This record gives sequence, structure tokens and C-alpha cells, in this order.
Amino acid sequence: MTKTRIIIRGVGGYLPEKVLTNIELATMVDTSDAWIQQRVGIRERHIAAEGQFTSDLAVEAAKRAMTAAGVTSDDIDLIIVATTTPDYTFPAAATLVQMKLGMHHGMAFDLQAVCSGFVYGIATADSHIKNGLATRALVIGAETFSRLLDWTDRTTCVLFGDGAGAAVLEKIELADNAPEQGILASALRSDGHHWQKLYVDGGPSTTGTIGHVHMQGPEVFRHAVGKITDVVYATLEKAGYTVADLDWFVPHQANKRIIEGAGAKLSLPPEKVVMTVSEHANTSAASVPLALSVAVADGRIKKGDLVMLEAMGGGFTWGASLIRW
Ligand code: UT7
Repeated sequence: MTKTRIIIRGVGGYLPEKVLTNIELATMVDTSDAWIQQRVGIRERHIAAEGQFTSDLAVEAAKRAMTAAGVTSDDIDLIIVATTTPDYTFPAAATLVQMKLGMHHGMAFDLQAVCSGFVYGIATADSHIKNGLATRALVIGAETFSRLLDWTDRTTCVLFGDGAGAAVLEKIELADNAPEQGILASALRSDGHHWQKLYVDGGPSTTGTIGHVHMQGPEVFRHAVGKITDVVYATLEKAGYTVADLDWFVPHQANKRIIEGAGAKLSLPPEKVVMTVSEHANTSAASVPLALSVAVADGRIKKGDLVMLEAMGGGFTWGASLIRW
């Protein structure tokens, strides 16, 4: 007898070449390297070049994930791009990625859950594959978030960056007595009553403009730690594990203090927490797969490890996914 499991076969990340440091930012708005590092833990962020779009970043990350997985676009039949910054209002950035990968087959769609998009994407691809709608998926978190920023607003423009991360998911049949592998459980949550705490003041149906990010930072902060820990516990419980079983915690990279606060509330030793916020800043849907790809590439996350992904963002949306690597 065998059991069907959905595994992550490869991951990859891509950061645009241009780096914007806190010191450079301090020449643009009334801020300082010391304030940003102390309050958020960010040193620098990457910014997409003019003419470089979200789908371009997504394609680079996708190619790296496919190389790591040993597959080509011929083997993919589902592309999910989690993004808040699609190239166009429509079509989906995912269909542009499909085109740029030279594919005519399969399906592609965008998923909008802001910073939680990649975790939502993992859970969505997991169900699509389990339900027979697809066999092998590219789940990509990609953002040119810098284009939503008001570069005169120091309360938001220092926090975000651009980038993309991707994962190849596929179905395997495991012998009943084989070691556990793959996505063990996910939990997704949202509560739209909080939408005005973190939103962009534009859109096709309201203003007809793109708009800029607005955030009630301390309010978002207040909700973040509790919501993150609740959904992590719910995911662990579904799979029959506890925090002590975790090898790695790969959280959304919004703020070092939020990550440390959640880690402390969960009683997780800091050395089990993957932290890339200082070099990447908050790349929204790209933050979790970028952090994941760093920790896989440097050999921290290894086959057999128990890995918890987690994110929280605008909506509010939040979620977690537990994976046996
Ligand atoms: O990805 C989605 C999830 N997003 C998040 O998780 C973000 C959650 N929120 C946060 O990370 C934090 O609330 C922030 C980093 C956004 C802000 O940190 P804070 O410790 O909550 O600061 P604050 O907003 O309470 O502001 C404290 C002071 C204020 O000055 P006064 O009123 O005390 O004189 C701000 O005007 O810091 C000032 N300030 C700044 N100073 C220098 C705000 N932004 C800056 C800045 N540089 N960039």
C-alpha cells in the first residue's frame, strides 16, 4: 500500500540587482539607519530596475526553483503567482509567467492575499494536486512592492523591498512504512474587518489609480504576534506535533521584533528561526519563499527536517504550513 503526499521538490529565490541601503534612504526621507535597524531590523532592500516587472522577477525565481527540482516547464501544469503588484490589472501575472516560460499547457492564476500569499499558494496548490486538478505546480511569491510606496512617507517607505521566491510542488506515492515527507497540514485565516489597518488607497473599481500603501503600524504589530502564534499552534495540532518537534521556523519577514516576539511566545530557540529581513526587508508575498530558499541553499534546511512556514498581512490574512522536508 502507498500513501499520496505533496512534496516541495525545489525552491529558488531572485532579488533585483539594485540595493537601497538605509543610509541612502536617510538622504531621501527624515529617517536614520539607527531608527530602521532598531525598530524593524532592516539594513537594506532590493529595488526592481525600470522596465523590470513582477512577472520578470517571478520567472527568475521559477527557473531557479525548477533547476533545484530537476524539472523543466514541460513538467509543470499549474502556476500560482501570489502577488499584490501584478504587471497589469489583468491578465494575471501568472499567465505572463506561463508565456515567458514558453508554456502553452496547464493553468495559471494569481492569488491575492498580500503578505500571506505564498502560504495561501502552498495550501492551494496542495489541494489542487490532491484533488487531481494538477500534478506538478510552481508556487511563486513575487512583488515589485516599491511601486506601491509613497517615497515621501517615512512610516512605510523604509519597510518594503522587491523580490521573488518560488517552489516546485509535486505528488509522490510513499510506501506506507516510508518516512513521512511533504506538506503535513496548513491553516489559513482572514478577517476583513481589519482592512483599513493596512491597505493601498487605489484600485480599478474605486479610484481608477494604483494608490499607495497606508499602514497603522502599531495596530498591525499589536495583532501580528497573537495571530501568528494562534495559526502556528492550529497547524501543529492538525498534524499531531508540538513546537518542540520543529526544526525550522520560516516566518514572514516584516519586522525583526515581530519575528522575535512570535518566536519567544512559541518558546522557539532563536537558532531555529530563519531571518532574512535585514537584507531583504518586507517583500510581501515573496518574503517566505525568499527566506526558505536562503535556508535551503545554505544547507540549514535538510531532508527530514520539520519546517513551519508562517505569514500575516493585509486583509488581514494569515496562515501557516507545516512541511516535512
Ligand atoms: O507585512 C505586513 C505586516 N506588517 C507589519 O507587520 C508591520 C507592523 N508594524 C511595525 O513593524 C511597526 O509598527 C513599524 C516598524 C511600522 C513602526 O514601529 P513602531 O515602533 O510601532 O513606531 P511608531 O509607528 O509607534 O512610531 C514611533 C515614532 C514616531 O514618532 P513620535 O510620534 O514618537 O515622535 C514616528 O513618527 O517613530 C517615528 N517614525 C520614524 N522615525 C524615523 C516612524 N517612522 C520612522 C522612520 N524613521 N522611518
